[in-house]
Amino acid sequence: MTNPMSEKKIVVIGATGQIGSELVVELRKKHGDQQVVAVSSRSVPKGELANGPHETVDATDRDALKSLFERHCPDTVYHLAGLLSATGEKDPARAWAVNIGSLTNVLDLSRDLGVRQVFWPSSIAAFGPTTPRDNTPQNTVLAPTTMYGVTKVTGELLCQYYWVKYGLDVRSLRYPGLISYKTPPGGGTTDYAVAVYFEAIRNGNYDFFVGPDTVLPMMYMPDAIRATIELMEAPAEKIKVRTSYNLTAMSFSAEELAKTVADHVSGFSCSYSPDFRQQIADSWPRSIDDSAARKDWGWKHEYDLERMTAEMIKNIK
Ligand code: SER
Repeated sequence: MTNPMSEKKIVVIGATGQIGSELVVELRKKHGDQQVVAVSSRSVPKGELANGPHETVDATDRDALKSLFERHCPDTVYHLAGLLSATGEKDPARAWAVNIGSLTNVLDLSRDLGVRQVFWPSSIAAFGPTTPRDNTPQNTVLAPTTMYGVTKVTGELLCQYYWVKYGLDVRSLRYPGLISYKTPPGGGTTDYAVAVYFEAIRNGNYDFFVGPDTVLPMMYMPDAIRATIELMEAPAEKIKVRTSYNLTAMSFSAEELAKTVADHVSGFSCSYSPDFRQQIADSWPRSIDDSAARKDWGWKHEYDLERMTAEMIKNIK
């Protein structure tokens, strides 16, 4: 579907990733296929993601990114490229270089080349073991113990700085674990909440890499995509938080998740073999207070565990 009336020009960096691959499709429905440029560093778009312009650019390469911005003159940039928490712990130097290097490139080039709006994803990983873990407030302790979390806190502060200092309209969400069936996540701690669905249908069993009592905030991808677009479309005066908004839909334990999956997949069984990711999960909140997002720009989630599970199973099958 194209809308030739739309003047918007959008660049999505990290377009073939878990969030990007679904966001690009939604943005193209709204603004037209040609208005949304999908940018990835290596992987080539497939399926419906291929219905529009694509560029292969590594966002840590400032000259290459500058040339991309000059060719496409975006007014809006979604910068989603980055290493997740578990991958980041295996190579912290690379997590810093990729996550912060690409963000500073995007912010500087956006300021200098006339981009109006930038979106950048933060995460529950911005919190740490000294943060209150239940109903974690919007304004609280940000002392993460993963390199991924360090890049998220740093990034939040940079986003706010570019708004305060240069008036660049940067907006951000602290996503909880995101669950989707279209593109798998890569190297995150919350990946078990996606993998369990695929393994339940493929093999009838799943070995969780966290213990049964592990509770983390989560969200189904359609809610996350809608939150992202609603945040970006909200009038600027409604955006009171310029670091990053807390955002959530549900919280459940690995055991509750397994029980819900078992209700939909007969004969499903599971086991628990916590690895290094348990420690990461234990340093993050169990539940999130996102009342600022609900009040400021009207955030409202639609999917709970039951409804998400029914859709995940139906779509994976
Ligand atoms: N889902 C991410 C991860 O597990 C958190 O933002 O790394």
